[in-house]
Amino acid sequence: MPNAGCQWRCLLGLFCLTQLWIAGETGFLEDHFPASVLEDAKLTTLQLLAKYKYPGEMHTVTTADKYVLQMHRISRPGAKPVLLMHGLLDSSATWIMLGPHSGLGYFLYNAGYDVWMANARGTRYSRSHVKLNPNTDKAYWSFSWHEIGYYDLPALIDAVLAKTGYEKLSYFGHSQGTTTFFVMASTRPEYNAKIHVMSALAPVAFMGNMECPLKRIAPSLLNVVGEAQELLSHSKISSGCVMSEASMQACMQYMGRVLGKNPAEFNKTIMPVIMGHAPSGASSTQVLHYLQLHKSDRFCEYDHDTKENQRIYGRARPPDYPLEKITAPVALYYTQNDYMSAVVDVKRLIKHLPNVVEDHMYPYKKWNHIDMIWGISARRLAQPRMLEVMQFYEAGGPQNGTQLLTTESSEETTNMTTEMVEVETETEIVGPTDGMFI
Ligand SMILES: *[C@@H]1O[C@H](CO)[C@@H](O)[C@H](O)[C@H]1NC(C)=O
Ligand SMILES: *[C@@H]1O[C@H](CO)[C@@H](O)[C@H](O)[C@H]1NC(C)=O
Ligand SMILES: *[C@@H]1O[C@H](CO)[C@@H](O)[C@H](O)[C@H]1NC(C)=O
Repeated sequence: MPNAGCQWRCLLGLFCLTQLWIAGETGFLEDHFPASVLEDAKLTTLQLLAKYKYPGEMHTVTTADKYVLQMHRISRPGAKPVLLMHGLLDSSATWIMLGPHSGLGYFLYNAGYDVWMANARGTRYSRSHVKLNPNTDKAYWSFSWHEIGYYDLPALIDAVLAKTGYEKLSYFGHSQGTTTFFVMASTRPEYNAKIHVMSALAPVAFMGNMECPLKRIAPSLLNVVGEAQELLSHSKISSGCVMSEASMQACMQYMGRVLGKNPAEFNKTIMPVIMGHAPSGASSTQVLHYLQLHKSDRFCEYDHDTKENQRIYGRARPPDYPLEKITAPVALYYTQNDYMSAVVDVKRLIKHLPNVVEDHMYPYKKWNHIDMIWGISARRLAQPRMLEVMQFYEAGGPQNGTQLLTTESSEETTNMTTEMVEVETETEIVGPTDGMFI
């Protein structure tokens, strides 16, 4: 029987080789990156914090099912805690790797917060378990994002609250970091009381309208790839990307295709940093579970075979997540060029959530799945509003007798006009964003 994990790697390797060939043939321009950027590509989250002189700390958390997770903290003892959860194949680095002038983690710290950046099970920093060995025990990889929501998030939230003495925290999730929150808050509703406000960046729940290459190759992948395989682990892929100029170019091409093109928002200088930090590992079951959501057009638990569903759920089909139980305030920030979270799917999610406090679709037509965290303008056009909304709900929300302005900031409106004009004169076809960093 062929090793399915190898098949994934073969597929990716083949793709990279193709890209390498294309890159060579078209004489793809060699870029020269600043030494500091190349260094950032190799540093860990904690080393990055140290380099830029922020007080980094590492905390270890063990979940109820014995996975051992690492959390990275930009420590401001006594200040309000905020917990940040990355997306699929990403890690805590996502919030800081673009540097102090850009990262949301730094922004929140500078605004006076105690910042906790989580790492989901199976990623490079949380590739550990009390009993199971991720290298040899297949059982280790037998999880989807369901388990990240059901086990990891409660353990992480409890740990942050225990360490800081607060009763509540604010939460930021990107992509899968929102899916896992919706899993937790619907299946363990007692955790809603521990959240001031959840900020959902590029929210992913319903996926019926997902548009990406992943979707097209999905049927064959579903046959080839088994469940519970380690996928795109950090050591295997990324180090290869930053090994040589040629491999870097190949990976850059690949990333471009996968992440979609919005060159206006993409800082090419930090390409090596992104390749140095992502992908950072996941279980194939996470991807399979997302593909199931797309196919079924439901937001529901993992679909095993009928017999196994009967055993686990007591019914032939997996149950929907009861979104009506998510009573924590939810602020949603989403974009219009996001192949993973299509606007109609987000709007459907909003209809199901009982306590939406901010429905924020960015007016910039080309913003994609990652621009609100990695985009050049994120600091200026996205982060201030996220902070404003969070602070408003930390202060008690509208019950307080105060009001949060619901109109877009004037800067956003001004720049919307600029962007609209830009879009009309643009001749380049805007590429998709897709499954690499769900
Ligand atoms: C792109 O990233 C580099 C390296 O962090 C930084 O120096 C530069 O200011 C960034 N460019 C923009 C337009 O933000
Ligand atoms: C109301 O909001 C203000 C300003 O944000 C804050 O200082 C105050 O503590 C809040 N009051 C309550 C009762 O939450
Ligand atoms: C709008 O964006 C442009 C660059 O995209 C910037 O130079 C300008 O200052 C922005 N407008 C405002 C009002 O900030």
